[in-house]
Amino acid sequence: MKPHTYRLVFAALLLTMLAVFGIAFTADSEPQNSSLKTDGIGDAKLAEEKMMSKEERIVSKDKKILVVCYSFSRGNTRKIAKQLQTVLDADYAEIEPTHPYPPYGGWNSEVTEQGKREVAAGFMPEIKPLAVNIADYDIIAVGTPTWWFTMAPPMHTFLKSQDWTGKTVIPFMTHGGWPGHVITDIKEYCAGAKFAADMEIQFDSEGGDHMLTSQADIDAWLEGLRKELR
Ligand SMILES: Cc1cc2nc3c(=O)[nH]c(=O)nc-3n(C[C@H](O)[C@H](O)[C@H](O)COP(=O)(O)O)c2cc1C
Repeated sequence: MKPHTYRLVFAALLLTMLAVFGIAFTADSEPQNSSLKTDGIGDAKLAEEKMMSKEERIVSKDKKILVVCYSFSRGNTRKIAKQLQTVLDADYAEIEPTHPYPPYGGWNSEVTEQGKREVAAGFMPEIKPLAVNIADYDIIAVGTPTWWFTMAPPMHTFLKSQDWTGKTVIPFMTHGGWPGHVITDIKEYCAGAKFAADMEIQFDSEGGDHMLTSQADIDAWLEGLRKELR
């Protein structure tokens, strides 16, 4: 082989190695958290975020966090609660009325009228004891479906049966287009608490499980909470 042929082969090898290592580095440095934004933040900020360990991303370890929800018709509220549980690395509990409501089969169901009567009367149905003790937690997310423009009665019972003094509460709710005053009512029933960012999540107006609020809006709320509570 002539000397310039050696040089060509060497250059080709060098380029191949650069390409292989370049790809490997790029793949490794890809952000794990898809919600990390690259636009307008600047490289320094991005590099700082990338260097955070998973543990540092999670809300302060010395705070105990619980997500409590009531979900009835379609599991809509549970679906959001589970996302919160993951992002906040929280414990999870569900409220269950002692006497179950009749099954839901759309707006014309018996439960729709029963719910209306209970809400109008301010009725608080008996609920089963939770498997966890609220007193053990610093931050508690509480989620309910809207029933007749306020929270579902079992959530009313739960909120009124706890001492919220000194707790941080994250109120969230799901609805079918008429959110009413659920968030205001949650805040009223959690006397003595501080409140982190709340969220109203809209599902379809047929009482189904088609979510109309975008997942991007929910992700932005979750990401904001993670930062707010850190
Ligand atoms: C008894 C009852 C009353 C409801 N009242 C309202 C309401 O006032 N406004 C509204 O937007 N949706 C209302 N809905 C719809 C639910 O809030 C909505 O479908 C919610 O996402 C259901 O959540 P879940 O699957 O966690 O139970 C009502 C549903 C039921 C069963």
